[in-house]
Amino acid sequence: MRQFAQQLSKYDPINGVVEGARPAIERRLSDLKGVFADERAYEAALAEADSLVYTTYCVAPEEGDGAMLYCIGKFMPGRIGAEYYMTKGHIHSRPEAAEFYFGLHGQGVMLLEDEASGDSRLLPLRPNGAIYVPGHTAHRTFNTGDEPLTYLSVVAATAGHDYEVIAARGNFRQVVVEVDGQPTMIDRASYLQSLSR
Ligand SMILES: [Fe+2]
Repeated sequence: MRQFAQQLSKYDPINGVVEGARPAIERRLSDLKGVFADERAYEAALAEADSLVYTTYCVAPEEGDGAMLYCIGKFMPGRIGAEYYMTKGHIHSRPEAAEFYFGLHGQGVMLLEDEASGDSRLLPLRPNGAIYVPGHTAHRTFNTGDEPLTYLSVVAATAGHDYEVIAARGNFRQVVVEVDGQPTMIDRASYLQSLSR
């Protein structure tokens, strides 16, 4: 007979903590080298403090094909130059795996980039909103507000994370910066050019 997996866990939508989760993954500024376009602003911020950017707890009751897992992320507010604090960003090791994100608290956006066409979309990640990330789509999350952002993600347990594909081609094609108080997508090359002026 099939063993029952851990079928109930409890999460805190404000503090982003989950009981019964795997050990939390913490990402500090020093873990995000090469992520921000404005390297001078990044080095200056890092010299001041190696601030905590986000913490992720994941609950994976089962492994293998057909199993699912969920994660809750708590994301601190902050900026590097005009860029919002952001995640490393990834595609899935099994690139066909899609994923749902649900906003729980705070204000954020997600950048979705189609791997084949390079087409990019910026979507709001807010309480009462769900974002569907299709397969073969790189995704990155940003906290655009002044308070912690928490969100829940649900994905196939075998999806995995691939950071190398994005690192190998430089980064996401678009940067997300604050323009007139609004999160705005700008072509990376144009943004880098504006920084060197
Ligand atoms: Fe993902």
